[in-house]
Amino acid sequence: MSNQSDSGGINTQAVLAMRGAGYYSERTAGARDVINDARELVLTALETLSDAESLRLADFGAADGGTSQQMWSTVIEMLRKSGDNRQIEILYTDLASNDFSTLFRMMQGMQGSPTHAYQKHHENVFVHGCGTGFHQQLMASESLHLGFSATAMHYVSVKPLEIPKHVHAARADHTSNAAFAEQAALDWQNILLARAAELVPGGRFIALNFGIDEKGRYLGNTGGVHMFDQFHKHWNALYQDNTITKVEYEKATFAQYYRNINEFCAPFNDPQSPVSKAGLVLKSCHSKLTKCPYQAAFIKAGGSGGSMTNAEYADSLIPTMRSWSETVFRTAISDRSDDESLQIIDRFYKAYRDEVAANPIGHAMDYVHIILDIEKTAN
Ligand SMILES: C[S@@+](CC[C@H](N)C(=O)[O-])C[C@H]1O[C@@H](n2cnc3c(N)ncnc32)[C@H](O)[C@@H]1O
Repeated sequence: MSNQSDSGGINTQAVLAMRGAGYYSERTAGARDVINDARELVLTALETLSDAESLRLADFGAADGGTSQQMWSTVIEMLRKSGDNRQIEILYTDLASNDFSTLFRMMQGMQGSPTHAYQKHHENVFVHGCGTGFHQQLMASESLHLGFSATAMHYVSVKPLEIPKHVHAARADHTSNAAFAEQAALDWQNILLARAAELVPGGRFIALNFGIDEKGRYLGNTGGVHMFDQFHKHWNALYQDNTITKVEYEKATFAQYYRNINEFCAPFNDPQSPVSKAGLVLKSCHSKLTKCPYQAAFIKAGGSGGSMTNAEYADSLIPTMRSWSETVFRTAISDRSDDESLQIIDRFYKAYRDEVAANPIGHAMDYVHIILDIEKTAN
């Protein structure tokens, strides 16, 4: 696959996928908690769609579906308990490289816990998959009742450049950061215009997006040790000791941008913007900090000196970081053999793990989301 996109940026498809075979959702309790907390928002939005004959729902950027499974299962169960027996179609979307096979197996109760395998428990629920990116329209116009997306739309469609001296735009030099900001603004507009086309009048789009809150906090940067600085430090150490080349060092650039609240709201605040003209209005927008569940468990166990050892804490925290970040570093060294690249990647995460095990204070992965409830007006 060419590394160059049509628009001249760097293709991101290869570097985005979460680890497959259920690894992602099994190790991502924080993402699941955030989604479960959004259940009421989803149910309230569905109340306004009671006139629709059937319901079409979509989960954009769903990965293996495991983190949102409980939320959808509960929502469907509550609808059924309330006597709502309408047909429900649920479309899971992700990139073509996603492990959809695990997703389908989980929904049918063939993998993972059968408790929330809602396809088995309810009639008239139809599960579909779509492997096209969410920057485009993915279904017929005016056919979607409720779109949902969690922790996915911080991924940019193309990397405008490889960041020279860091791994993430949030800590990049001004020029690199500005290039990512520009790409992210364009992507956000395309995401919204695509949803505007798909939604029925009165339909809703609920997005729980990683972003920067009013206090400047974002994932892994909430007052303790800065997670992306640690990624950079350990990656740079591999470059400094000649394990990886300069090109490989620079290629480890996350295809991500954390928008701030102003950036998320800008298309809605301007009545002349294409998004406003397409009929989308912002019903609410707020930030939410979700504490790292792995650190919470460690603190509950008494912290250092308690019933969980520092090493056990490190062994619980690093896999959750690895579940979504590994492909970035793997792709940066993809010209090497699988064995060699795995050895390097294992060494990289072990260095971070050993640092946490030596002194866990301040190491955590708190989530920061900007939660948007968007409506397509009836025009
Ligand atoms: C961190 S995971 C989040 C998964 C799940 N929604 C959750 O909250 O746990 C981000 C997902 O977004 C997907 N993704 C990234 N860019 C995408 C795009 N342009 N279109 C669709 N999915 C995308 C990734 O492949 C990945 O599965």
